[in-house]
Amino acid sequence: MAGGHSLLLENAQQVVLVCSRGERFLARDALRSLAVLEGASLVVGKDGFIKAIGPADVIRRQFSGETFEEIIDCSGKCILPGLVDAHTHPVWAGERVHEFAMKLAGATYMEIHQAGGGIHFTVERTRQASEEELFRSFQQRLQCMMKAGTTLVECKSGYGLDLETELKMLRVIERARRELDIGISATYCGAHSVPKGKTATEAADDIINNHLPKLKELGRNGEIHVDNIDVFCEKGVFDLDSTRRILQHGKDIGLQINFHGDELHPMKAAELGAELGAQAISHLEEVSDEGIVAMATARCSAVLLPTTAYMLRLKQPRARKMLDEGVIVALGSDFNPNAYCFSMPMVMHLACVNMRMSMPEALAAATINAAYALGKSHTHGSLEVGKQGDLIIINSSRWEHLIYQFGGHHELIEYVIAKGKVI
Ligand code: NIG
Ligand code: FE
Repeated sequence: MAGGHSLLLENAQQVVLVCSRGERFLARDALRSLAVLEGASLVVGKDGFIKAIGPADVIRRQFSGETFEEIIDCSGKCILPGLVDAHTHPVWAGERVHEFAMKLAGATYMEIHQAGGGIHFTVERTRQASEEELFRSFQQRLQCMMKAGTTLVECKSGYGLDLETELKMLRVIERARRELDIGISATYCGAHSVPKGKTATEAADDIINNHLPKLKELGRNGEIHVDNIDVFCEKGVFDLDSTRRILQHGKDIGLQINFHGDELHPMKAAELGAELGAQAISHLEEVSDEGIVAMATARCSAVLLPTTAYMLRLKQPRARKMLDEGVIVALGSDFNPNAYCFSMPMVMHLACVNMRMSMPEALAAATINAAYALGKSHTHGSLEVGKQGDLIIINSSRWEHLIYQFGGHHELIEYVIAKGKVI
């Protein structure tokens, strides 16, 4: 059949499947051996989904006589799943580079926040910005992420806090979801900070009574699609009780729970997330032992953010303990004005060096498990027949180079392919 298939990637030195063998994530035992094919080819159909993966000679015979829109010779190169970034705040205006100097001089994240900087600074600038301006800078950031190998990214609102600006941010995310090649999981994060002049309880009431009903209405009309609900559960921000109320109401309107917890202080956020059936909890530097066990039992994934712990010189999240207890560990860049990092290869490198993860653990955390954290691992996060054709090709004969190399990945990552399309 002429032109029946879109893309043939031929004879790669290594194809790393990150195959979930019927499960929707990789944890503890499954992580001990990542399936890697040597001398293999991969076919993506015109519909953007993977049609075949196997030894190069077998694929050649199977597809002999068929034509492809594009053939890429992958000799000496490796094919890996497209990277999944499970936590970002990429829509905002204003510049916070000056805060980096303050932090280097010893100011803590919360000192800057309480003095009206941090999130509040970005909220003011984002409220003033036009939708078009926000979209343009967001688009540029997404392009940087794609160049670094990301093909699916979670994107939060949360620099509006008021309904009008939160909706403006969500419309910007929706436009990107419809117009751009990168996959997007949209998160409503109206509880990112308590607006000036309000208590956490009053802010939670406003979210529950005004924001969430509006989101439900816009979702029903097909105007804005939101996947997840997030709250910054932290001492001096949203306490456990307000967090519980907001997340439960979000779940009631069909959103997946995916929130910031146990970052700067132990809050019992992990225990709460496990109880509410959260899909994911991020940060977890201060998680308790009981919280770790509860998350493993509830199959609630841990989205670890090595950039934040590094930038703010926090104690590292206990990745080893989580992995040993069977928690589904995922990774995110936490791209935001505080942690200005677009690159999941850098994130994996930091996770290995600072959090003592192995390279297979880091790769699974940045692919299949990050897709799980977004509720998308049935279609994303691994190279398996029937899954979406999201993948990267690196110019190295060993896949580990993607993690081993510290920076400068644009030279290493030769192709980024989303839904079978070279981007
Ligand atoms: O995940 N912790 C809360 N939110 C972000 C920081 C946002 C900001 O500082 O603008 C985070 O690190
Ligand atoms: Fe965050």
